[in-house]
Amino acid sequence: MKISPEMTSSNSAPRESSSRRLRAIGRSELASPDRKRTYNEELFEQVAPRYRLATRFLSFGRDPRWKRVLVATALERHYRSGRAARRLSAARGLQPAPVSIDLACGTGDVTFELARQAPDGSVTGVDVSIDMVRRARLAQAREKIANASFAIGDMATLPASDATVDVVTGSYALRNASDLEATLCEVFRVLRPGGIAAFLEFSLPTSRLRRALQLRLLRVWGQLWGVVLHGNPEIYAYIARSLSRFPDSTEFVALLRRIGFADHRSRDLMGGFVRITIVDKPR
Ligand SMILES: C[S@@+](CC[C@H](N)C(=O)[O-])C[C@H]1O[C@@H](n2cnc3c(N)ncnc32)[C@H](O)[C@@H]1O
Repeated sequence: MKISPEMTSSNSAPRESSSRRLRAIGRSELASPDRKRTYNEELFEQVAPRYRLATRFLSFGRDPRWKRVLVATALERHYRSGRAARRLSAARGLQPAPVSIDLACGTGDVTFELARQAPDGSVTGVDVSIDMVRRARLAQAREKIANASFAIGDMATLPASDATVDVVTGSYALRNASDLEATLCEVFRVLRPGGIAAFLEFSLPTSRLRRALQLRLLRVWGQLWGVVLHGNPEIYAYIARSLSRFPDSTEFVALLRRIGFADHRSRDLMGGFVRITIVDKPR
């Protein structure tokens, strides 16, 4: 499955075929983990050149602040739990300087935020899209951020040994996971006991009416920016389509608990369209 270069052209015939193709692939293939991964690789290669601009427009300019809050909340919890643990037992080997992984890092916003807010720590951003990672590395060189690195890969197979990571973040990441449960199990595997997982994601309400309304609004909003930024309404219609297959807020917390995470906290943003969810791996 290859999305050919002419699909991003301003010529109307290829634009139509790109829309049809993305829609057709999205409907039939988001259910299969392998196809969803391939679909995402192709979709985000198209999105990458305009990605930062798109997130700013789609979020009414609030996205950078949400990411700062995500990272600040996760790190605060990490440092707090580190202090408490050291008081209990100095022999546990917990590091105050956090080792972090940023899932589906895209162009690196959250990875850099982790690097800036924890300058004594180190962070690895992981993303399946070669172009996203290339752009993240360019930004890193430009901004001279030394304590971040990037890896190309699937978020369901993280580049870390068991129980070696203090903080895992994912912003607009999990909705794209080829296999959500396998990805969360992988996050659980790499986290140390007491480690923190922090997610920023579009939220799916439990009320059917509210869910339908929210998905409709997201779809129209995404289509609008898809046309403006890429000449293709289907590109950001993917947000609503992938969200409709994501667990609602209650199911998501139940899944986290089933995997073994504890001490769940969440914070709604933008009237509940977006939510920060933070959980711990028990000690
Ligand atoms: C909406 S962007 C979020 C980027 C970044 N986290 C941010 O908040 O700006 C979603 C990212 O998920 C990546 N992605 C999609 N499927 C993935 C997978 N299976 N494993 C790793 N990354 C994936 C895409 O390449 C894309 O960069």
